[in-house]
Amino acid sequence: MLYTTKNAAETEALGERLAELLDAAGIARAFIAMRGEMGVGKTAFVRGFARYFNIWGVKSPTYTIVNEHRGRVSLFHFDMYRIESEDDLYSIGFDDYVARDGFAIAEWSENVTEFLPDEKICVSISRVDGDAESREINITTDGIYENIGI
Ligand SMILES: Nc1ncnc2c1ncn2[C@@H]1O[C@H](COP(=O)(O)OP(=O)(O)OP(=O)(O)O)[C@@H](O)[C@H]1O
Ligand SMILES: [Mg+2]
Repeated sequence: MLYTTKNAAETEALGERLAELLDAAGIARAFIAMRGEMGVGKTAFVRGFARYFNIWGVKSPTYTIVNEHRGRVSLFHFDMYRIESEDDLYSIGFDDYVARDGFAIAEWSENVTEFLPDEKICVSISRVDGDAESREINITTDGIYENIGI
């Protein structure tokens, strides 16, 4: 589904909506692969997603690679910007995080495409020509996430 947001608050609200729909569907774990260039709004989307679960303080985990948040659910927030190899992924314990209960959300997932789980939700954000604050956000789902209604 393709959405357009007019500012950061709307992108946050869309992230929050995704969380709400997953929760309503009784889904307590998922991998969410975010794509989009620098400063496009990936962290804004994650912030809104987290907010739904009363998780605050989300920021880009660029240097730490992964931030772990706990609220009503666990949220593992990755930034794959600096990940260049399977070894890098292994050293952050990526597989262990993915196997755990909770939601894993990865910014710069395009850097690790071949290592992502088969069943996932993809969120791709791009800028819109002529409007500095508009974004197109394409959300695709597969497998068990197909019917959540986003
Ligand atoms: N429609 C919009 N959606 C999201 N952010 C927007 C929008 N319009 C303007 N912005 C601004 O764009 C910036 C997005 O920053 P954000 O940290 O979320 O990007 P990012 O994609 O996570 O970047 P990075 O790749 O560096 O991690 C913020 O300054 C925000 O205010
Ligand atoms: Mg970010």
